[in-house]
Amino acid sequence: MKEQLQALRERALAELAELAEPRALEDFRVRLLGKKGEVTALLRGMGAVPAEERPAMGQLINSLRAEIEDALAAREAEVALKLKNERLAAETLDVTLPGKAADKGGLHPLSIVLEDLIDIFRSMGFDVVDGPEVETEHYCFEALNVPKDHPARDMQDTFYLGEELLLRTQTSAAQIRVMENRKPPIRIICPGRVFRADEVDATHSPVFHQVEGLVVDKGITLCDLKGVLTQFAQEIYGADTRVRFRPSFFPFTEPSVEVDVSCSACGGTGCRVCKGAGWIEILGAGMVHPRVLAGCGIDPEEYSGFAFGIGLDRLTTTRYKISDIRLLFENDQRFLSQFKEGGK
Ligand code: DAH
Repeated sequence: MKEQLQALRERALAELAELAEPRALEDFRVRLLGKKGEVTALLRGMGAVPAEERPAMGQLINSLRAEIEDALAAREAEVALKLKNERLAAETLDVTLPGKAADKGGLHPLSIVLEDLIDIFRSMGFDVVDGPEVETEHYCFEALNVPKDHPARDMQDTFYLGEELLLRTQTSAAQIRVMENRKPPIRIICPGRVFRADEVDATHSPVFHQVEGLVVDKGITLCDLKGVLTQFAQEIYGADTRVRFRPSFFPFTEPSVEVDVSCSACGGTGCRVCKGAGWIEILGAGMVHPRVLAGCGIDPEEYSGFAFGIGLDRLTTTRYKISDIRLLFENDQRFLSQFKEGGK
C-alpha cells in the first residue's frame, strides 16, 4: 500500500503542475479530495489493512491528503495571479480621454419656491406643520363652517374615498387640527398637496399645492393680515410689487379677502402672463370666523386670528413665467433641467 501511496503522490503533484485553468483545478480537487475522490477511497479501504498497521497507514494517508491540499492551494494562487496579470496586460486604459461630468440634479421649481416661502414665514416666527392628505368631512368642511349643502361639497369637486373619508380639497383642514392641539399664540404654515375633481388644462390640475397659514392670538386684526401678506408678496415678487386686497367670501373667514399682486412680467400694464389684467391673484385669506374658533375650543371673545391659503402652483408659474401648469407635473427633464441651479 505504501508504494500505492507514493505513486499516487507523484502522479498527483505532476498533474497539478500542468493545470492552468481554475475549472481544471476544481476538477482535480473533486477527483482526489472529494467525497468519492481517490484519497478518500484510500481511507475507506483501511478496513483491509491489518489492525497493527492501521494507525501508521492512517497517518500516511492523512499527511498525503494535507500535502495535496497545500499543493493545490499554492497552484490555485499561482493560476489566479497569472490570469490577473494576463488580464491587466490585455486591458488598456487611456488616461488622456476626457472625463464624463456627473450630471447634477436640482430642485423642482415647486420646491424652490416652497423653500423660499418657508424661509420668509419662518423669519416672521411661523412654524411649519404637516397635515394628512386623506381627511374626514369634518376637518375638510364641517369644522371650517362649510355647510352640508355648499357647492364645494358636491361630488364633482371632491374625491371621496367612502362615506366619511376624502382627499383634502384644501389645506385649510390643517387649521382645525392645529387649533385643536395648540393653545394660542399660534403662528403656523402648512404646505401640502390638495385634490379636486377638475379637468386637466393649462391652469387646472386634479392635484395641486397650497400653503395654509394661520395666526391666532389676542388682538389680531385685519391690519396684521395685510402687513404679513404684503411683506410676504414683496419678498417673493420684489420690493416694488404692489399688493391689492379685494373683498371676497370664504365660509371660514369673516371678513374675507383675495390678494392680488401687480404682474411682475409687465409691471401692471397688462400682458400675456396676467391675461391683460395687470394683476395676478395669489391667495385667499380672511379673519378666522368666530364659529370656527369656538368649534376648536378657542374663545372668540378673547382671541382672534387670520388665515390664508396660498396657491403654490400659481406662485411658481408666475415667478418663472411658465405658461402651462401641466409642465410642473410631467417630469420632463428638458423642462426640469432649466431649474438646476435652484434659488433666485
Ligand atoms: N382654502 C381656500 C381655497 O382653497 C383658500 C383659503 C382662503 C384659505 C381663505 C384660508 C382662508 O385659510 O382664510 O380656495
